[in-house]
Amino acid sequence: MRVLVSVVSLFFLGIQALSEWSYSGDDGLEESRWPEKYPSCGGERQSPIDVKRREVHFSSSLLPLHMVNYEEEGLELSMTNNGHTVQITLPNTMSMRDSDGTVYRTKQMHFHWGGRDSEISGSEHTIDGMRHAIEIHLVHFNEKYETYEKAVDQPDGLAVMAVLVKVEDYTENDYYSTFISELENVKYTGQTTTLRNVNIRNMLPGDIRHYYTYQGSLTTPPCTENVKWFVFQDSATISKAQAERIENAVMDHHNQTIRNGYRRTQPLHNRVVEANFPYSPDEVSKNHFYMHEKISHGLKLKKIKKKRNHSH
Ligand SMILES: *[C@@H]1O[C@H](CO)[C@@H](O)[C@H](O)[C@H]1NC(C)=O
Ligand SMILES: [Zn+2]
Repeated sequence: MRVLVSVVSLFFLGIQALSEWSYSGDDGLEESRWPEKYPSCGGERQSPIDVKRREVHFSSSLLPLHMVNYEEEGLELSMTNNGHTVQITLPNTMSMRDSDGTVYRTKQMHFHWGGRDSEISGSEHTIDGMRHAIEIHLVHFNEKYETYEKAVDQPDGLAVMAVLVKVEDYTENDYYSTFISELENVKYTGQTTTLRNVNIRNMLPGDIRHYYTYQGSLTTPPCTENVKWFVFQDSATISKAQAERIENAVMDHHNQTIRNGYRRTQPLHNRVVEANFPYSPDEVSKNHFYMHEKISHGLKLKKIKKKRNHSH
C-alpha cells in the first residue's frame, strides 16, 4: 500500500531528497520504527498477515465479489515510479460489491516484489508461511464517500484486493507483457508513462471467486487501520524471466534498484480471517478442480495450452 506516500511524492518530487520511511533503514525510518512517527503502524489490526489456512473460518454467507468493468479493453492508464514501487492509476469505473452490499471503486494498483540477494519472493501476505514471488494490490475506496481522498480517513473507507503471483520457469504470461515492457520508461523515481491495451482482469488469477478476507491496514505508513482485505486464493503466474525484469527495473530516490519492498507479517491479535471456501489440505485435488474450471472458460484454455507448449 503506497497510497499516501505516492500522493506526497507526486507533490514534492522536486525537493524530496530522502524517503520518510523504508523497509531496511537504508533510506529513512526502518520498518520496526515506523510506529515512532506513524502510531497506527503499532496498532493491533495491522497488515500484512500470515494466513494460517487451518485457522481460517469458512463462511458460506460470503459470496464471490461482484466485479464490474475490470475486463474493459482499450484503457490508457498512467504508471508512475513513486520511489517505493510502480503504481498504475485506475479509473473509478471499475467496482466491486462485497457480500454485505458495500460497493468499492478502484483507485490504483501497485506491486510488491523481492529480488534482493537472488531471493525471488516478495509478497506481503504469506499463506501457511509461504511467501509468493510478487503481490499486487488493487486499492479501492468505499463508494459512499465519493472520492478516494474523502474515504482514506474513514473507518470503513478502503478495500484492497491482493493478488499473489507465482513464478513458473517457462510460463510467459502475455497479459503482463505491456506492463513489463513499459517499466523501462519509469526507471527513475518520478517518471510516468502510459500503459496502452492492458486488461486488468487478465492480470488477475483465473479463479477470482474464492478469497480470504479480514480487517487490516495499509501496509505502508501511515498504516491506517481502515482496510478490508480480500486475498484471492488462486494465484497469477509469470515466468522467471518476467519476474527478474520486474525486480531489476526501477530505482528509488538514490538510484538504488527497488527490491524487497514488502513489510513483515503482523500479529493477528484477536482478528479472524474468513474465507468463502472450505479448508482443504489436499492441494492436488484442488489444482485439478481449477484446471477443470479454467477449461470451461475460453480465455483460460488458451493460457493452459500455451503453458503446455512452453514446457515441451
Ligand atoms: C539518477 O540517475 C539519473 C540518470 O543517470 C540522473 O539523471 C539522476 O540525477 C540520478 N539521481 C540521483 C539522485 O543520483
Ligand atoms: Zn501494497
